[in-house]
This record gives sequence, C-alpha cells and structure tokens, in this order.
Amino acid sequence: MNTVARSRGVVVLGSTGTIGVNTLDVLSRHQARFHVVALAAQRNVSKLLEQCLLHRPEMAVLADDDAADELNTRVKQAALDTEVLSGAAGVRRVAALKHADVVMAAIVGAAGLLPALDAVKAGKKVLIANKEPLVMLGGLFIKEARRSGATILPIDSEHNAIFQCLPASCGSGIPIHDAPRSYGINKIILTASGGPFRNSSKAQLEHVTPKQACSHPNWVMGKKISVDSATMMNKGLEIIEATCLFNVGPEDVDVVVHPQSIVHSLVEYVDGSVLAQLANPDMRIPIAHALAWPERMSSGAETLKLCNLGALGFELPSLDRFPCLRIAREVAGEGGTAPSIANAANEVAVDSFLNGRLKFTDIPWLISETLEHVAAVDDSDLHSVLLADEQARSFALEQLDTKSWRRNNDERRATIT
Ligand SMILES: NC(=O)c1ccc[n+]([C@@H]2O[C@H](COP(=O)([O-])OP(=O)(O)OC[C@H]3O[C@@H](n4cnc5c(N)ncnc54)[C@H](OP(=O)(O)O)[C@@H]3O)[C@@H](O)[C@H]2O)c1
Repeated sequence: MNTVARSRGVVVLGSTGTIGVNTLDVLSRHQARFHVVALAAQRNVSKLLEQCLLHRPEMAVLADDDAADELNTRVKQAALDTEVLSGAAGVRRVAALKHADVVMAAIVGAAGLLPALDAVKAGKKVLIANKEPLVMLGGLFIKEARRSGATILPIDSEHNAIFQCLPASCGSGIPIHDAPRSYGINKIILTASGGPFRNSSKAQLEHVTPKQACSHPNWVMGKKISVDSATMMNKGLEIIEATCLFNVGPEDVDVVVHPQSIVHSLVEYVDGSVLAQLANPDMRIPIAHALAWPERMSSGAETLKLCNLGALGFELPSLDRFPCLRIAREVAGEGGTAPSIANAANEVAVDSFLNGRLKFTDIPWLISETLEHVAAVDDSDLHSVLLADEQARSFALEQLDTKSWRRNNDERRATIT
C-alpha cells in the first residue's frame, strides 16, 4: 500500500532571528513534509509580515503590544488569513498549540524559558536552539519531557553533533535512557571557534568595539550570541547545556578551540575511539537534521569538500584571556540557581556592552560581581530560578548605575564605535 506521510505542523519561536530565518529556509525546501502553523517574535513587524506572506501561518505573535497592533493592521491590509496575537501570553499560547507537532525554540535569552517549557510540557518535538533556558533549568526540561513524552533535539551545532555521535541504543532523542557512561562514553568534547579575538592580547581586548565583537569569523549569528562567542561565555553556557542534555558532569565535558568550525564536536569512547561530526558551518544542517530526525533530509547547505579544507587546527582555550569560560565552569559545578545568576548577569552585561555602557573586558567582571553578591540556592525549581534571574538582573543594573561606573564609562563610550 502506498502511504503518504502526514504534513507536520511547525511553530517557530524567534522566527525573525538568525535561527528562525534559517529554519524557514529549510522548511520552504520541504513543503510537502511540513507546514508553518505559527510564527513568533518580539517587535520586528516588517520581517514577520514578510514571513506571513510567504508561509501563511494560522497565527503570528509579537511580544511587543504596539508592534503587534501594527502587524495586525498590515496583515488585514494584505488580506491575510493570519490571526495576530500579542504579548508574552501570545507567545506562550502558540508554543503549546494542540495541532502543532514541532516547536523550534529560537528566542534569544531567558525570555525563551517559559514558552520553551510550555512546548515541552505539551509533549511536542522541541528543537531547542535557545540555550539559556537549558542553562537555567535544564533538569526541569528533562523531567517534564519524561512526563509529557516530549522529545528534545539540540540545534546548537555542537550539541547536535554530539547527539549524532551517540550510539543509537541511547534511545529516541533526548531525554536519553541512561547516563552516557553506561554506553562506554568517556568524554564529550565541545569545539569552539575561539571567536574573533582568538589571537588578541589582553591589552587589545580592552579596546574591542561591539562591531568587532559581532563579526564572527565563521558564523552569521544574532548579536547576543556573537558577543557570547567573542567572550567565550557561549562555550561556557554550552558546557552547562551539555551537562543537562547528555546527563554528564561538567568534568566530563572538555573544550577545544578549533578555528575552522568544521568539526562541530566529538564523543570519546572508553576503547579510545573518538567520533566526530563534520560539516560546513551552516546552521541549516543541524536544523534539517532535527526536523527530519530520525530520518534525513536536504538542508540547502553546501557539502563539505574535504580536499579543499587544508589543515584543521586544535588548541587549548585561554582561561586567562577568556575568564567567562572559567566562570561558567564554576557555576556548572555549583549548580542550583548559580547558572541562572551568571546567565542573567551576562545578558545585562552583553546588552550594556552593545549599548556602549560597558567595556568588553568588564563583561566577566560584572558576572563575577553579581555571583559574589546575589546568593545562589541549591533548589532550582521554576520559582527560585525566576527569582534568581530577577535579583541578578537588578543587581547587575545597579552596578552600571553607580556614580563611579558612569564616570568611567563616559570616557569608554567615546572610544566605542
Ligand atoms: N544564530 C546561531 O547560529 C545560533 C547557534 C546556536 C544557538 N543559537 C541560540 O539560538 C537563540 C537565538 O539566536 P539567534 O542568533 O537566532 O538570535 P537573534 O538573531 O537575535 O534572534 C532572536 C529572536 O528572538 C526574538 N525575541 C527576542 N525576545 C523575544 C521575546 N521576548 N518574545 C518573543 N520573541 C523574542 C527576536 O524577535 P525580534 O526580531 O522581533 O526582536 C528574534 O526573532 C539564542 O539563544 C542563541 O544562543 C543561535
């Protein structure tokens, strides 16, 4: 008998961002297999309207109320059959839509926590790019996925690579059945490009501008993750993400700098075998992998021409020049609400750096100060994590507002272009 597979309904949270746009590109290549049910973003009206015209979703949400009103007017003018929702409640509503099968969680930062959790609680196939919620509350995501039957698939290229290198017997997606050690896994090795300042001296890092920090050598990404890559906080957040997704301790996760971004991560087995996933640096590859999983489908990315690659390099990261990596490892070991405090302080610090209020080299300083003054608790339930996030943000913002801070930064602002 000839069976035709049912088209899967997809919700894209953060559709106007880099991951969202790449997701829609992959989906548009497989229109018989997937259809877009809902799109959500924060305030980018024109991009979301353009996406609505192209993908005809049932629903479109903007978290910003004024922007949602404008979108609604323009959707009506365009005679589109798309219902426009607004606010954080609208985003959460589409994250758990009954008739959606797949949710791409690609909102940036802690703002994505509640909608991603809603999608997991609703038992969806959740493609998680938004690493910050996993850093804050990874344990709860895994627990809720076990309860609801949701499958979590990692989109971060490193975690997607590790997932591809795990033995099939680990089970059907994440949560995996047992701890990786029971499958003979010795170590998880995350690769890091080293970012735009891999070879910069400490003195050079003092004068880094937002534009330089956002110019990643290999990847095109949103501003926040670009700055995180430049400070290597991104790799630190990824260590914590790996501990939750793969049920390992931070000591089981190594980081190696690999400037070419071709080997996306590796898994070392007890017999000495090391399995790696290689591909061109194109986020459509992990997105297509997760959308089609456990099958495979085309992504639109160029295939790897091994003979054109030249040498691939690997080196140890410098914790001296990139202290965010050390801080993240420490909070990963501490657990409880410590990762949420570090994450919130980092979000404030990155935003302030991008707005010219903070020097690049003060990002780790602000995170350390916040960790020192905001007490972490061992319990990391939703309530304690949201409270820690709020306390850390207000402490970090207070630091920026102090008199001496403002005075010093007047001079700094003049040097940032
Ligand atoms: N880019 C990559 O290559 C990459 C790789 C791995 C992991 N990730 C992770 O994926 C996530 C997204 O990264 P990105 O690079 O795509 O970021 P981005 O380009 O900055 O896009 C962020 C998206 O989130 C939306 N958004 C922000 N706040 C929101 C809110 N409160 N409610 C609803 N939507 C909101 C934005 O909407 P507006 O456009 O309207 O502001 C935009 O659609 C991050 O957590 C990042 O760490 C990214």
